[in-house]
Amino acid sequence: MVINLTEYKKIPLDYQSLEPIIDNRTLNLHYNVHYQNYTDKLNNLLKKNNYDYQNSAIYLAQNIDIVPLEDRDEILYNLGGYLNHSLYFYNLTDKKKDMPEGMQELINKNFGSLSNFRKEFINMAKEVKGSGYTFLVIDKDNNLKIINTSNQDTPYYYGFIPIMTIDVWEHAYYLKYTYNRPEYLENIFDIIDFDKVYHLYLNNTKQ
Ligand SMILES: [Fe+2]
Repeated sequence: MVINLTEYKKIPLDYQSLEPIIDNRTLNLHYNVHYQNYTDKLNNLLKKNNYDYQNSAIYLAQNIDIVPLEDRDEILYNLGGYLNHSLYFYNLTDKKKDMPEGMQELINKNFGSLSNFRKEFINMAKEVKGSGYTFLVIDKDNNLKIINTSNQDTPYYYGFIPIMTIDVWEHAYYLKYTYNRPEYLENIFDIIDFDKVYHLYLNNTKQ
């Protein structure tokens, strides 16, 4: 648990650029404007309610009844925006990496093969209606599932723990890919850092 926070903060990026997969203008707008706005709005709503920041943002997502009902909708939306973007930017990498052996075994166990997992994940992301996300999540039995959520809903609201996501809002790809969402999905899948995905899996499951 993180204590003595004065507000929730964006995660720092460990890359400068994701060209040519994500153009620099999109990365800059997405990280510095969209993600910033969700973070600021979330903090403003929480401060208005004298929230004391003693818990992590994930704890708040799993215990949303600790904030007053009158602001809960707005907090849910911006908290989802904050958490989903934190995971999205965390998951990406500018370095070519091999998949960790443990992650490969997990994928084989849950989806048959890496190529099948890739196909299922991208096909699910093609099905997002309007704005939303596709996630790899851990369910209550520690199995991996691929799910979509709408708008800024986060899997924590549905009892899942997300460990990988692709943002399928148009702001994530439209400047470069325009209407070609499938090409964005095929390309961005190759810059997912599975070391981080596996790290999240291990941190969130009892081994
Ligand atoms: Fe986004």
